Amino acid sequence: MLNFDYRNPTQIVFGKDRLAELDKLIPAGARVMVTYGGGSVKRFGTLDKVLSALGDRTVVEFGGIEANPQYETLAKAAKLAREESIDFLLAVGGGSVMDGTKFIALATRFEGDSDSLLFHGFAPVPVEADQVLPLGTIATLPATGSEMNAFGVVSYNGGKFPVNHPSIYPTFSLLDPTLTFTLPKIQVANGVVDAFVHVLEQYATYPVDGRVQDRTAEGIMRTLIEIGPITLEEPENYNARANLMWSATSALNGMIGAGVPFDWTTHMIGHELTAQFGIDHAQTLAAVLPSVWRVRKIQKHAKLLQYAERVWDITEGDEASRVDLAIDKTEQFFQQLGLKTHLRDYDIAQEQIDDIVAALEAHGMTALSESGDLGLDISREILQLAW
Ligand code: NZQ
Ligand code: ZN
Repeated sequence: MLNFDYRNPTQIVFGKDRLAELDKLIPAGARVMVTYGGGSVKRFGTLDKVLSALGDRTVVEFGGIEANPQYETLAKAAKLAREESIDFLLAVGGGSVMDGTKFIALATRFEGDSDSLLFHGFAPVPVEADQVLPLGTIATLPATGSEMNAFGVVSYNGGKFPVNHPSIYPTFSLLDPTLTFTLPKIQVANGVVDAFVHVLEQYATYPVDGRVQDRTAEGIMRTLIEIGPITLEEPENYNARANLMWSATSALNGMIGAGVPFDWTTHMIGHELTAQFGIDHAQTLAAVLPSVWRVRKIQKHAKLLQYAERVWDITEGDEASRVDLAIDKTEQFFQQLGLKTHLRDYDIAQEQIDDIVAALEAHGMTALSESGDLGLDISREILQLAW
């Protein structure tokens, strides 16, 4: 096992009928900015319940954070938070709202151009912990794990760039599976696939004898395979949705990634597809991951073989054919959930692969994989196979 540090300060408040507890989770007398997206939280009544739980605290609302949140929108929110002397942020929504709110937390008290807080081409400007606003979240879409990690992704200048800071872990995240009952089917499918691929990007590398990490990862994946189709068909099946929600959080809260190598190639290529073609985050992953593996199955052989046996119960045949079958089954799982697994399914022309490779180069994505040996030529091969 590799050396690691692990600390996760987010308090999880899980279960139904717990919104009223916001009153205890947010300091009395806080000046709160409530952030949300395009309106689902208004349409389904969540926002009203949140406002009522906040009682007589001063509340400023900031709605309109888009999917794949835009830097300009978030900069406006930070300006408003500064003007209103906000001292607590409450994100109500999916990954985009939670990520966007993390950026607002970093930008509100930041003196200078807030685009320098993003990792784009150079390391972001350091920010003191006491200059970051505290935030809490009410997650309405189980997918990204943003509710229990210190990452966000912001769309800026034709690309998608991460933010990361130890002070942007939410102080609490309220996870009520019933708030997700209203999700459109495609967003539920996106959530299952995003969580599944988060597990895999921290698992399908090379063995380091991280038994707890591996077996937890395999448990999350088996859970997602079991409950994915059920929760799509039965949106109000509480236990299925609760298991999806906790799987998504557990997939990217640092537990399974501690002490093991990782390979975020699928995510990095996927981000360019969202930035250029507007394809939903998880849908880019479903289109790219099978090809990453088909191109890299030699480097990933031992872990893919373990995955075949422990996640898909594939024990027959020679090793190479077991790995191939596991890759096929993964692709079929994404398709079963309703996601497409080829770039051509999204009307991307084969010639446009050049543009994607150029964007990877422009964004410094030239040494991907668990060993940093995946250059632009291999990314091109992956994209051609994914087409
Ligand atoms: O905007 P509203 O009206 O709220 O509608 C949203 C949005 O249209 C809707 N929605 C959310 N909750 C709902 C609901 N509709 C009905 N009922 C509900 N309960 O769903 C749509 C998609 O929402 P979005 O937040 O964009 O989706 P998701 O949670 O998949 O987040 C995607 C973003 O997270 C980033 C992605 O890059 C992308 O920008 N990621 C963040 C990560 C992290 N922080 O660690 C890791 C991930 O790999 C990912 O990159
Ligand atoms: Zn993801």
